[in-house]
Amino acid sequence: MIKFNLFGKEEGALVHFLKKDDISNSSYKDYLDKKGFEAKLGEIIYLPSTNSNGEIFVGLGDSEITLEDIRNIFFDLGNLLRDEKENIASVNIPDFGLCQRKTIMAVYEGLSQGEYSFTKKTKKEDEILDLKINYTPPRGKEEKLQEGLDIISDMMDGVFFARDLVNETGNVIYPETLANITKEKLESVGVKVTVYDEDKIEKLGMKAFMAVGGGATNRPRLIVMEIENKDVPKTALVGKGLTYDSGGYNIKSSSGMASMHSDMGGAGTVIGTMYALGKSKAKVNVVAVVAACENMISGTSYKCGDIIDTMKGLTIEVKNTDAEGRITLADAIYYATNNFEVERVIDLATLTGAVTIALGEEYTGAVTNDEEFYNKVKDAAELSGEKIWAFPYDEDYKKLNHSDVADISNTSGRNAGSITAGLFVGEFVKEGTKWVHLDIAGTAYRSKKKGYLPKRATGIHVKTLYNLLNPIDC
Ligand code: BES
Ligand code: MN
Ligand code: ZN
Repeated sequence: MIKFNLFGKEEGALVHFLKKDDISNSSYKDYLDKKGFEAKLGEIIYLPSTNSNGEIFVGLGDSEITLEDIRNIFFDLGNLLRDEKENIASVNIPDFGLCQRKTIMAVYEGLSQGEYSFTKKTKKEDEILDLKINYTPPRGKEEKLQEGLDIISDMMDGVFFARDLVNETGNVIYPETLANITKEKLESVGVKVTVYDEDKIEKLGMKAFMAVGGGATNRPRLIVMEIENKDVPKTALVGKGLTYDSGGYNIKSSSGMASMHSDMGGAGTVIGTMYALGKSKAKVNVVAVVAACENMISGTSYKCGDIIDTMKGLTIEVKNTDAEGRITLADAIYYATNNFEVERVIDLATLTGAVTIALGEEYTGAVTNDEEFYNKVKDAAELSGEKIWAFPYDEDYKKLNHSDVADISNTSGRNAGSITAGLFVGEFVKEGTKWVHLDIAGTAYRSKKKGYLPKRATGIHVKTLYNLLNPIDC
């Protein structure tokens, strides 16, 4: 836990921020020189004291600082405080020339990011030290600043919840448990949650979704989450919810299969977002849909070459059972945009390996039918320090999803794999609905840590969605 106190008394470790030019005038110059401290951006050193609290020096470089720099600086600072067992600190946040509220929010986020961990080791690890941070802002804006801190606290709860769901493995999280955990957690913050079991899913006519889940002993669940506010147009969120993807009869290689409990990264993000929004009592109008199932091999699995029906009525030729995500999303996005009156929809999915070939673990790949809506999503992502990049939306790519026997094929060869997958999903969006598709296969689950992003689940785009749906001014 972090207590971030506005107007707390000055106590504990003292944190100094220095730009490159500040070193020559500093009373600590000799010490800093001896330590080789050059105040490079992100450089950080600790000066211990035997009889009182230590002091910390943080470098700010000599160029402009971004919100993302602030998150990373304070992530490192929080970790240093915890490592040195300095659980109380006073900071004097410099004026970075940015919005003061967003600055303090980035500070608090960075400090908070260091609190996340996921382990199933039986040997108890050191507990993460609680921190108390005191900061005295200029008078007059304390209410707005406190509101910003509260928002970050809720947002980080949502991010951490999403990470936990995605980090948990397939023996723990399967459709039924995902539905139960979601219901319990989200209802506790006032979000309406409806769970449909397979009989109900069948009655709804979601034949494509049922086909993908057909081989699994753990049966599918459709999870619908709602926060209503009739004053604003409704947004739908749809998250890919493959709690495990073996590939089916087009079985994955063993290295590819080992992390496929993370194939519900999209679901994790939308569930985490709804939790954060609920906790904040945000006045938003959102419906979130997760079609949760496992892609398994058994006598009841769907097979290569099957031609299956969808809720929309279009037929799909299953050329590859490992391209299952788009098939579940077909029904989920059709349901979300037809059963609810939504103006716009965002789907998030760990959909293609191809997106990681194109953009690595840095950028989420996007496909959209509405530039204006996409730009809003992109702005929210930028504010959040979460990067997205749009692939071209071009009718010509749609031809690649051609099937000789059915209305559409679920695979189309190696070329433009993330675009064809996105456009496949787009076929099932209700006509006239603004749509952004986010392929998070590269960004939802990391092979190594980077800055405040841990290895494994990142909870990517909980912040983006929160900031999009519940924007704050400066
Ligand atoms: N869940 C995978 C995509 C994925 C791959 C996510 C690696 C995270 C890491 C998806 O269901 C899949 O298997 N896609 C196939 C599609 C192909 C058969 C057209 C892929 O990308 O190989
Ligand atoms: Mn797959
Ligand atoms: Zn998958």
